[in-house]
Amino acid sequence: MKTKICELLGIDVPIFAFSHCRDVVVEVSKAGGMGFLGLARMPADQLEAELQWIDDHIGGRPYGVDVLMPKNYTKLPEITIDPEDLPQEQVQFMRKLLDDAGISRLPEDDDQAMLRDSLSRVTQTPEEEIALLDIALKHPIKAVVNGLGIPPKEVIDRLHDRGIKIGSLTGKVQHAIKQKEAGIDFIVAVGTEAGGHTGSISSMVLWPQIVDAVTPTPVLAAGGVGGGRQMAAAMALGADGIWCGSIWLGTRESELQPEMKEILWSASAEDAIKSRARSGKPVRMLRSQLTEAWEQPGAPDYLPMPYQSMVMCEPDLRSQRAKHKDFMYYPVGQIVSAMHEETTCKQVIFDMMSEFVEVMERMNQLIATD
Ligand SMILES: Cc1cc2nc3c(=O)[nH]c(=O)nc-3n(C[C@H](O)[C@H](O)[C@H](O)COP(=O)(O)O)c2cc1C
Repeated sequence: MKTKICELLGIDVPIFAFSHCRDVVVEVSKAGGMGFLGLARMPADQLEAELQWIDDHIGGRPYGVDVLMPKNYTKLPEITIDPEDLPQEQVQFMRKLLDDAGISRLPEDDDQAMLRDSLSRVTQTPEEEIALLDIALKHPIKAVVNGLGIPPKEVIDRLHDRGIKIGSLTGKVQHAIKQKEAGIDFIVAVGTEAGGHTGSISSMVLWPQIVDAVTPTPVLAAGGVGGGRQMAAAMALGADGIWCGSIWLGTRESELQPEMKEILWSASAEDAIKSRARSGKPVRMLRSQLTEAWEQPGAPDYLPMPYQSMVMCEPDLRSQRAKHKDFMYYPVGQIVSAMHEETTCKQVIFDMMSEFVEVMERMNQLIATD
């Protein structure tokens, strides 16, 4: 396909994948789209190994990384990662819920080590995020996308000096305009349907407004895109390409455990709720007993970032180890309702493109010629 973003990044089809999984990044890029590896919560040594693996398997195709970098940051006070120093009301609330459901506690010999590892990932500081970017810059990345909007100016300048393109996510028109003014090369417009942190405006309304506000900067449409009809709708609304996160979770290559995939196959769009249980901020993810508990009368208050995520480390580890489906959850968007069985990244892209072409042909026939 010929779109501005294809030319800008040297790709064949304007299909982008956000993923925490290196296999997805490689497969999407090899199929002609472009994979972005999410760096959030990744320790530095792991990142180096993952990027090396990508370089070894991607066959020289373009790929990128997704960072979580605030524009300005003040140094946070030292955050404790001692599990016993976490807010006890919330910790005990979760502990009791899982105890009552008969879900075993973490094994006594290594629970502290597991928890500390989990906690240290949540408390990633902006300095650590910059250190991760430094590692990424030793690899042939073509673009960086920031999940938190505009990165610090020195980061923008550094990336541009190396010819690396920068994209940023937003769910608001005003933010998109500021991103364009800050020199961002492409905007990812995220509708409320999306998995992960999300705003409140639907894709259908948001995409064309952002396209109009930032033209000629290319816009990638995100939130609820899982097939060629949605891709065609996005392009019809002026987008230059699509940015998907949820649809890759159902692929053979994805990071999800088989039990979690089974939950996806049976989930409806209504099960992809916006909940503050995971991070303290609204994240679209699957409803579970863990998310429901925080909404019950008498539940403790959600904690501000990063404390809510820290409190959730123990229940997450416990429910994953027990593989207890009622308590497992994961960020996913409303498109989960269209995911019914395991597929592959290559198949997703093939199906999207075939459906896209069918739509174009059908639309062309709608115009009366006589
Ligand atoms: C499991 C999961 C984790 C995500 N984590 C991040 C993240 O760390 N950084 C980020 O910029 N976006 C993240 N997102 C959001 C995606 O970048 C993307 O905007 C979103 O998935 C698009 O909507 P869709 O889920 O309907 O495809 C995540 C999405 C999912 C599904």
